[in-house]
Amino acid sequence: MERAIRALAEARRAVAVTGAGISVESGIPDFRSADGLWSRYPPDQFATIDAFYDDPDRVWVMWYELAETLGSVQPNPAHYALARLEKAGRLAGVITQNIDALHHRAGSVNVVEFHGRADAIVCPACGRRRAMELSHRAHGAPRCECGGYMKPDVVLFGEIIPPGPLAAAHALATSCDVMLVIGTSAQVYPAASLPWMARENGATIIECNTQPSAFTGNVTDIFLRGKAGEILPVLADGVLGRAEI
Ligand code: APR
Repeated sequence: MERAIRALAEARRAVAVTGAGISVESGIPDFRSADGLWSRYPPDQFATIDAFYDDPDRVWVMWYELAETLGSVQPNPAHYALARLEKAGRLAGVITQNIDALHHRAGSVNVVEFHGRADAIVCPACGRRRAMELSHRAHGAPRCECGGYMKPDVVLFGEIIPPGPLAAAHALATSCDVMLVIGTSAQVYPAASLPWMARENGATIIECNTQPSAFTGNVTDIFLRGKAGEILPVLADGVLGRAEI
């Protein structure tokens, strides 16, 4: 932890990359842990663009459940620690794979939502967007005024990362000299390429996870084993030099 605090305190430009693990202590299951979302909803049947087109009503069973969960959760100390670091000028931005908007709600400002966010829905046919609404849950997949089925405004497997977030994430990853990588299993590309990009530009990679990931022992320089909600406030306190709020 001391090495991580020093590296972050001395960083010219630090960036964070987060995955589902940072939101587990907010009550949102991650995807690939033993009791993760994919253990109940196989991603090939619920989280691919082909599954959506094949059977939108079936896919929406999972997305409505996730939307209901997201409607009742709060940021946890890990999200607040990153917002404090950004506010103090010690973090340039957060690239998140998460779709729960908890970084925004914790006060982070420069947040790149690499996989979109689940509080909005979009029509693939005409592009219309509106807020996620649970009122239609009993009627299956929400319909657009144009007649098409609407999908959550997230990047499903088989879809590309929108150009805006992709460019913003690359700009952050290639300009930082320290990258915090928090709560990701490093299984999904192109998000999992970001720490490698940062490392190629000489960045120090500090990883926080409850268990080793595909990054650990490869691209990670400093591995902080433990829960993000416990580790990140200590890291932020060490860098900012003041008691936890
Ligand atoms: N603190 C830190 N890390 C944690 C915690 C915690 N409290 N709880 C779980 N983790 C770790 C797990 O050990 C795991 O390595 O978080 C990671 C979560 O991994 P995944 O469930 O695979 O989530 P993620 O890496 O974000 O998945 C990437 O895959 O399913 C798609 O689009 C989805 O954005 C997601 C992407």
